[in-house]
Amino acid sequence: DLQRQWLHWITQYQILVMSSKNNQVVGIGSGSTIVYAVRRLAERMTDENLQIVCIPTSFQARQLIIENKLTLSDLERHPQLDVAIDGADEVDDYLNCIKGGGGCHTLEKIIASSAKKFIVIADYRKDSKTLGEKVLWTKGIPVEVLPFAYATVKAKIHKFGGTPVLRMAINKAGPVVTDSGNFILDVTFNSAMDWSKTNQDLTMIPGVVDTGLFVGMAEKAYFGMEDGNV
Ligand code: A5P
Repeated sequence: DLQRQWLHWITQYQILVMSSKNNQVVGIGSGSTIVYAVRRLAERMTDENLQIVCIPTSFQARQLIIENKLTLSDLERHPQLDVAIDGADEVDDYLNCIKGGGGCHTLEKIIASSAKKFIVIADYRKDSKTLGEKVLWTKGIPVEVLPFAYATVKAKIHKFGGTPVLRMAINKAGPVVTDSGNFILDVTFNSAMDWSKTNQDLTMIPGVVDTGLFVGMAEKAYFGMEDGNV
């Protein structure tokens, strides 16, 4: 809706004024919020004659970069990024995030970890005191798994108290397939966990590619508030 768009717009405007400088390599996240950041980047490219190279975190991000006529590159040419900008499904007071609602968290995490700064942009509904308090809303922690291993990973997650559900596609029979050809398990827990340990435990399971837990990665988070402030 219009109000949400406005919140997004003003958020992106302020962030990009602060975060993007000339000749930077910028990681472009995925989801609905990043769309506004990319539009603003494109405006600044024209208005200020900026030269910025963009690295996408997904098929969607790649399309966004191309549609907005930004300079597309990749990790092979730019293994080190200056800044990565991305949305999140939930962000706590320590800027730990749950991501992967759109199934792109593995590539997003690679890009975020390769950037000097990882900046999160989100609306006020994503702001949580304790990571996981909105976990039912976000449908759990997304865990990307190799298709070969999904059943055995599910069984192992059950053993340490998680309830994993294979994410199914809409308008197609079968599971969601990520940009890397993998499946996603959405894992709910009965209570808030030590998310750093949970992340480690999950990633240690053979067949798990990565989780949507971004612990200790973000440097700043900007929230678009209901009244239009950031
Ligand atoms: C994509 O898999 C996600 O990590 C998104 O970055 C995250 O869900 C935020 O998306 P929205 O901006 O659509 O809320």
